[in-house]
Order: sequence, then C-alpha cells, then structure tokens
Amino acid sequence: MTLLIKGGTVIGPSGSIPADVLVDGETIAAVFAPGRAPDVAQVIDATGKYVIPGAIDAHTHMQLPFGGTSASDTFETGTRAAAFGGTTTIIDFAVQKTGEVVQDGLAAWHEKAAGNCFVDYGFHMIIGGVDDASLKAMDSLVREEGISSFKLFMAYPGVFYSDDGQILRAMQKARENGSMIMMHAENGLAIDVLVQQALARGETDPVHHGLTRPEALEAEATSRAIWLASVAADCPLYIVHLSASKALAAVAEARDRGRNVFAETCPQYLYLTLEDQLGAPGFEGAKWVCSTPLRSKHESHRADLWQGLRTNDLSIVSTDHCPFCFKDQKELGLGDFSKIPNGIGGVEHRVDLLYQGVADGKLSLERWVETIATTPARMFGLYPRKGVIAPGADADIVVYDPNGRTRISVQTHHMNMDHSAYEGYEIAGKVGTVISRGEVLVDDAGEFHGRKGRGKFLQRGLSSYLI
Ligand code: URP
Ligand code: ZN
Ligand code: ZN
Repeated sequence: MTLLIKGGTVIGPSGSIPADVLVDGETIAAVFAPGRAPDVAQVIDATGKYVIPGAIDAHTHMQLPFGGTSASDTFETGTRAAAFGGTTTIIDFAVQKTGEVVQDGLAAWHEKAAGNCFVDYGFHMIIGGVDDASLKAMDSLVREEGISSFKLFMAYPGVFYSDDGQILRAMQKARENGSMIMMHAENGLAIDVLVQQALARGETDPVHHGLTRPEALEAEATSRAIWLASVAADCPLYIVHLSASKALAAVAEARDRGRNVFAETCPQYLYLTLEDQLGAPGFEGAKWVCSTPLRSKHESHRADLWQGLRTNDLSIVSTDHCPFCFKDQKELGLGDFSKIPNGIGGVEHRVDLLYQGVADGKLSLERWVETIATTPARMFGLYPRKGVIAPGADADIVVYDPNGRTRISVQTHHMNMDHSAYEGYEIAGKVGTVISRGEVLVDDAGEFHGRKGRGKFLQRGLSSYLI
C-alpha cells in the first residue's frame, strides 16, 4: 500500500525541511519537495505539523522481575503505550540472573516478547554473572543473536552487581567483539552501608532512598567505569540513567579526551526532584523511587542535564521505563524505603516531555529528534533502518502537532500503572498519527489500530559511533 504524508515539515538532526513523504509498503520510498509527489489514494495531511522518525526508547524493562515483584507493563501493554506516545521501537533488557546461562535468560525474554508486541523491539543483555561462560556467550550474542550491548551493574550487591574485576573482564571482551558496555554507575557497596545506617536511625521514608544514594557515589562509579574502560583499551562505554551533575562532568571530561564514552539521561531527571516528588508527604514519594535517584532542586542537576543534551555530552534520552503500581508493589516498602521496588514508568511520555524542552527554548527541534530517535538508532546498531526519514528506511513516522497540548494523567495514559509520575502535567505539543513500518497504529483522532504481535524482533548491528 502507498501512503503520502503531505504538507508537513520533516525534522532530522541536520535540519528541518518542508517535504512530502511517500511510503510504499513497509518502507519510505521517497521524500519530495512540496507538491512534487505523485497522487496516491491514501494521504495524511500534515499541514502545520512536524514529521519525525518514529522514536526509539533504548532503555525499557517490560515484565522485569525486580525488588520482589515484576514491572507491571507486559510487552503487550508497554508497547501499546509506547505507540500512543510516538515510540515505534523499544530496546528492552533481557536478563541473565546470577547463576543462569546467558542464552537461557535470552530465550526467556524472547518468550515474553514474541507475539505480544505492537512495535518493533530489540534487546540489550544484562550480564548478572560475569564468568568464563558468560564472556563466551557475549561473543555469540553479538555474532548470532543481534545483541550488541551488555549492561553491568556497579549497584545492587547480591542481585546484579559485578565487582571491578568482573567489569574489567567484560569490558575487555566488549573491546574484542565490538559491542558496547552499558553501565549502571552507582557505588552499590557504599550505598548499602548508608542504607543500613539510615534504617538504624529510623529513617524509613521514601526520601531516604535518594539521601542514601548521594551524587558523590554516582560520580565516583561513573569515573571508575570510565577509567576501567580505558584500561580495557578504550572499550565503548555507555552510562545509563545519568542523573547528577558531577557524573555528567566525568563523562564530558572523558569525551573531551576523545574517549568512547557516551551517556543517556531520562525525563524524570530533567523534570522531577528529590524534594517535590521523592520527598512528598508520607509514603507518596515511593512513586518516584528509582535508581539513580531524583536529585535536589537546590543544586544545578536539571539545568546541567539540559545543557549536556545541547552539547552532546548526553547523547540520548531514554525512559528507563520500569513501572510498578503503588498498590501492592510500591507498598512492599511501607516502613522500609529499601524494599520499595526501584523504577518509574514513562514509555508513553518521552516524546512529549522532550518536546516541552523545545517549547521552553532548551533544545532545538533537530536535537529533539536526534536525542529521541536518530542517535539511539546509530548508537545501538539500527541505523539507517530506523531513526531517520529517508528513502529505504522503515516507514516509522510520527506526525507531531506543535500547537497541540498534552495532559498527562493516570486517567488517560495507556501504561499498566495505577498512578502517573507526571500526574497533571500540561505540556506543549501532541503526538498525532503514528506509523510503524507503513501501518497506522494511532490515527490523528487518537484511535488505535495496532495489532498485537505485529512488532518484530530487531537483530542489531554494532554501534556507528565507535572509534
Ligand atoms: O530504578 C530503576 N532504574 N529501575 C530499573 C532497573 C535499572 O537499574 O535500570
Ligand atoms: Zn540501572
Ligand atoms: Zn533500567
């Protein structure tokens, strides 16, 4: 089927041009100067709208078993919500639990996702136990399974934690096979001491989750990861969910030295704070318990993160979508903040929340598209199939209304959560038509047309950014 998206402004990292986009089947056939495209039966009028590549969320956790429960979005509910928000590809984290065979963890993740997704999906692999077998498995995942990035944890001792020796070995392996190490950079051993001391003092409220994970322990771990990567012959390193100014400074310094170091931040760190959300009265703050934690509004974190996005010291905005309901899930930590499952849901709202940055003059239109779509595709081996509006690319397209408004609420969102981290936010811009591989998933009236199971697993190549 052919489809013409007519009259809009096509936005890409290198500029914005008025153009008509012709879709033939699952791919983009051509991009025409306005009015030069042939007549076709199906036309989407994009007059006054932006036409952007379908967004890519490079950090989600559907159905992740974590903190004594499981993330509340399945691949079905989570990818449906993603589509409503203009995200047409997710990269989720398959898990090798400590003691498990890596390939078995991967197979279990395929089983969860296959036949359930509304949008395309890929996997990173969490290596929960670095040993000879898992290092060998990294090679076969890169070569045979289309998985070219591996997450390690400097936090969560006893769960996913790797020590420095294990990290170094995994980095050396990644340097060898061309893959990327993604790092959860917090000093988990030191954090556990602070947590035990806080609990011993009777400090049990959610805000203490943030207070026991100070900026210094994110900055220290980030620097340590960077130095370990340098010992591993400059292994490509990607810091996930970066929230603190001093961690950002460490990344910026490494990048200034020409190192293979990259980082992402997430909307929660750009908008939400330790005082206003995590510090909400009573147990309410549990809704915003995530790691790394929300930072203080009295420090410069949020302004520094926006700045980092402008300067490309932060390359990507992902959500770290890891939703838990308040009832029965977040409530596991009543009376003990350390038992609150860590995670915030937001897969539906990233495109809009970042567009608010454009409306506020904090980000250019081009950088908006780059940080939510083009760079994730390049960083994680999906480019030029995804992340760009160009002939031959998958026809993953969002028609975005800059004059629309979006009101975020649990009453209207599609994620499987009983609350919203952004309840009541009224923001600029609105996702209109959402197209994935040539199929309209969401039309301009907000009606959903997606089919469960149509989302395909994406075998990814190596990152385009490596030196
Ligand atoms: O709080 C978070 N970030 N939960 C998800 C797991 C992780 O560390 O990314
Ligand atoms: Zn993490
Ligand atoms: Zn995560």
